[in-house]
Amino acid sequence: MTGRPKVALSSVVIKEEKMEQVKAAISQLQYQDLIFKDWGFEEVFEKGTAVSLLFYGIPGTGKTLMAQAIADHLGYALKVVGTAEIESSEPGGAERTIKKVFAEANASIGGPTEFNKFVSSLPKNPIMPQPLPQYEGPELLCFDECDSLLYDRNAVGVILGAQINTLLSELERFKGVVIFTTNRLGKLDPALERRITAKIEFDFPDKNQRALIWRRMLPAKAPLAKDVDIEKLAEYPLAGGNIKNAVLNGAREAAYTKKTEISMACFVKAIEKEVESLNQFLSAYEQSNKLNRLNKQELSNEDGMLKVADRVANKEAQISGEMVKLMKSWKGEKDGSR
Ligand SMILES: Nc1ncnc2c1ncn2[C@@H]1O[C@H](COP(=O)(O)OP(=O)(O)O)[C@@H](O)[C@H]1O
Ligand SMILES: [Mg+2]
Repeated sequence: MTGRPKVALSSVVIKEEKMEQVKAAISQLQYQDLIFKDWGFEEVFEKGTAVSLLFYGIPGTGKTLMAQAIADHLGYALKVVGTAEIESSEPGGAERTIKKVFAEANASIGGPTEFNKFVSSLPKNPIMPQPLPQYEGPELLCFDECDSLLYDRNAVGVILGAQINTLLSELERFKGVVIFTTNRLGKLDPALERRITAKIEFDFPDKNQRALIWRRMLPAKAPLAKDVDIEKLAEYPLAGGNIKNAVLNGAREAAYTKKTEISMACFVKAIEKEVESLNQFLSAYEQSNKLNRLNKQELSNEDGMLKVADRVANKEAQISGEMVKLMKSWKGEKDGSR
């Protein structure tokens, strides 16, 4: 195992009701071994015993972090599979990768002996030797933002359809835990939809949650200037992932400009970049979803921004091209009023 500190469930800032949903799913996972191995139900039900969760919500809301926290909580090794690993220029390459990923995870669930058997069965490549996988405990598979694997097969054409078919048949035989994460919830493949044990939406954090995230990300040793005001920082509508970037970029800004302290201005500069990138996502989101027009009034203040974020996440609202301008003017007013 690596020396990485474990991610505690409680370190993920989400609403109490969402945490309850996560805990309910976890308690289901904890009984997998008892039910299927100890009580022998795997002998009767060879298929369809996997537990699969779907985490959806806008980027930076803690989906991948939660996958890690669940793996750590259960004593599993998190195996993250991204689109880059699956995509392949060879025909059938994606399907082969999907099969290999499931074979490895299944072997890891069987324990070290089973896993080593799997490793020795891997084809050797003398030209470009690959590092062999190491046994780090049972694997929890996380298909991270592999959106194309989730869509309705009828809507995506034969190539992606074949990948989805492979995923579904592997999932059917899988004995472990799979988490799918996605930033956009399109129409899921109906067969996948039936197999998902629980769908959990990750919301845009509210102001109190943002303040908590800011606080936890600022270490006691960081030389914060006196003007750093967490309540003010938390007013900016940013997701946890953006806050993380803003914290690090704020610290970098201070270090590069040879300041002895990290001031509010360093953070605000970093925040502006994040607001921009959040906006870019939201405009792309608009183009990929046919949604209702937002009214300008809603974008005029903090409360409105949060509602917008919620409506966007629930796919009820359309972000107009004016969003960027409005957000800027809203932020400008805030800056001016300081
Ligand atoms: N809800 C949250 N609570 C605490 N930290 C968060 C939260 N959301 C995001 N973060 C921070 O942002 C980083 C990136 O979030 P991530 O889990 O990758 O988001 P997602 O997978 O939803 O895009 C995390 O590693 C963590 O530091
Ligand atoms: Mg993620």
